[in-house]
Amino acid sequence: MSTAVAQPNIALIKYWGKQDEKLIIPATSSISLTLSGFPTTTTVTLNPETDHDRVTLNGQSIPPEGTGRMRRLLSWVRELAGSQQHAHVTSTNTIATAAGLASSAAGFAALAKAATMAYGVEISDRELSTIARLGSGSAARSVYGGMVRWNRGYDHDSSYAEPLQWKGQPLAFVIVQISGAKKQVSSGQGMTQTITTSPFYEGWVTSNQELVQQAESAIEHGDLARLGELTELSTMRMHASMLGAHPPLRYLSGESFTVLDAVTELRTQGHPVWATADAGPNIKILTTAQECEQVYHAICERFGHLTIFTSAIGQGVYSTSG
Ligand code: PMV
Repeated sequence: MSTAVAQPNIALIKYWGKQDEKLIIPATSSISLTLSGFPTTTTVTLNPETDHDRVTLNGQSIPPEGTGRMRRLLSWVRELAGSQQHAHVTSTNTIATAAGLASSAAGFAALAKAATMAYGVEISDRELSTIARLGSGSAARSVYGGMVRWNRGYDHDSSYAEPLQWKGQPLAFVIVQISGAKKQVSSGQGMTQTITTSPFYEGWVTSNQELVQQAESAIEHGDLARLGELTELSTMRMHASMLGAHPPLRYLSGESFTVLDAVTELRTQGHPVWATADAGPNIKILTTAQECEQVYHAICERFGHLTIFTSAIGQGVYSTSG
């Protein structure tokens, strides 16, 4: 039995679209920050007496049709271990689901770590990130703490995540939850819809790959203003590609735009704030650890009716057992 804990990450330079659907090889590289809050804890227990894998999520047993990607990840690890044994997975999210955060990133990073340990597979963090990727692309990035780049690559081994050195001041996020409801179109479905129907998809892929390179240079120089600017560009270009789909994928709501306006206003007033959003209406505000409290209060003042969280930047996946 092995237990691991992982935190979600928020992409600054986004991932949207796959070159390979099965192996989850992305169309572009992406760059993220791992949060210090909202952990997922996952335990994998091997059971020699069963011929199938079982999953319990937040205390509820999940039917097999809902556990395909978890079983696929377990099969991959079983093959590496040369084992026939099946497993019971129990996973608990903290408030990540309610916060509308990518709980799947933390969940699959924790599952990859707990499963490789339970099956006795000894691998590097880089290899671990490729296994986490098989569950959910963004999970590859939650293997590491801090600033992380997921290299697009072209096959299973070359599409891995690795840590980047951020030389600027300590960072933090203020997270504005506009809705905690489950999204109507999953990110996987949304990506396929964008690839197959959006005339803007190609432009998104080409321009985002350029943004990755520009962000790497900003990160090297510790240039937060430039990194923030690139974060907003990647976010808007990703949403533009989604809006071009047929039917249009409109993940942002009217209130998302109101919060985006408030972020621009705060920046005009001199606060170091830049906004990003994923496949949902919630807005994540990148800021400095030093200004986080002030930004939190400024946002609460304007949006007192919404749930607002803060998070520092955290560590990568870790084991809490043997
Ligand atoms: O890993 P997935 O399938 O949950 O996709 C995540 C995609 C975005 O959150 C929208 C962007 C990103 O890079 O995290």
